[in-house]
Amino acid sequence: MNKKNSKIIDDTLNYLKFYKDYKDYSIYKDEITISGLSAALNTKKTPGKNQLNESPTVTYIPEQKRQINLESPVVKSSIDSESWINCNSLESFANEIRNCPKCEILSRTRKQVVFGTGNPKADIVVVGEAPGADEDVQGKPFVGRAGKLLTDILSAINFSREEVYICNILKCRPPENRNPLPDEIANCEPYLFKQLEMIKPMLILAVGTFAAQTLLKTKEPLGKMRGKFHICNGIKMMVTYHPAALLRNPNWKRPAWEDVKLLRMEYDKLKNLNN
Ligand code: URA
Repeated sequence: MNKKNSKIIDDTLNYLKFYKDYKDYSIYKDEITISGLSAALNTKKTPGKNQLNESPTVTYIPEQKRQINLESPVVKSSIDSESWINCNSLESFANEIRNCPKCEILSRTRKQVVFGTGNPKADIVVVGEAPGADEDVQGKPFVGRAGKLLTDILSAINFSREEVYICNILKCRPPENRNPLPDEIANCEPYLFKQLEMIKPMLILAVGTFAAQTLLKTKEPLGKMRGKFHICNGIKMMVTYHPAALLRNPNWKRPAWEDVKLLRMEYDKLKNLNN
């Protein structure tokens, strides 16, 4: 067997081992988070390319409480019916939550819930932060300036918007585009996880600090999270800059391009494995 094929097989085996062992774990560098439990992986060697072959010592750190911003208004979760849990299509799911009352402020100030758009069987799900003004009006995610750039980024790696699925951590626009509050995330996150469970994508692309930190339950800066794969709910995830940040800082376009190229390569690799 030639060297190249043998490397492909090694990489694949490593990935499968990684996937099997750490499914449902969020991986970041040398730290694993198991739905609320942090497990530090004390590998003896410097973590490198082959770190997944080493058998780590796992130390559990007590469950970390979700950080609640005490200054944020108390947001009461008051959805009467949780029937969305049993929906079996994205369409019926979207319909079930179109009047979601969970976040008092957002449900009063939004024009509509922005559920998500794209292929319900997508291999790739793009997750952003929250709808902005344009999205709130049109009811679709990423349709403003940042959305146009996202479309261009996807098309640069040969994906159309229609073949992927695009959604956000929050389904409603925060007033004045302020940052989502912790209670709002807690209210809305189950919807995203249900979407992921229904779509079952091969890969997630988290755009922006907020999406990445929320999905990985970490406070790591984006610069440290980008450029490599993480696991979110058993799904491989790449993190990159938010298109709006790229509009403000064109210097980040190069690293963002590197990130999405990795995503494309991983997609091609996984697709070949499945065929
Ligand atoms: N920014 C986001 O994070 N999501 C959108 O849908 C639009 C802008």
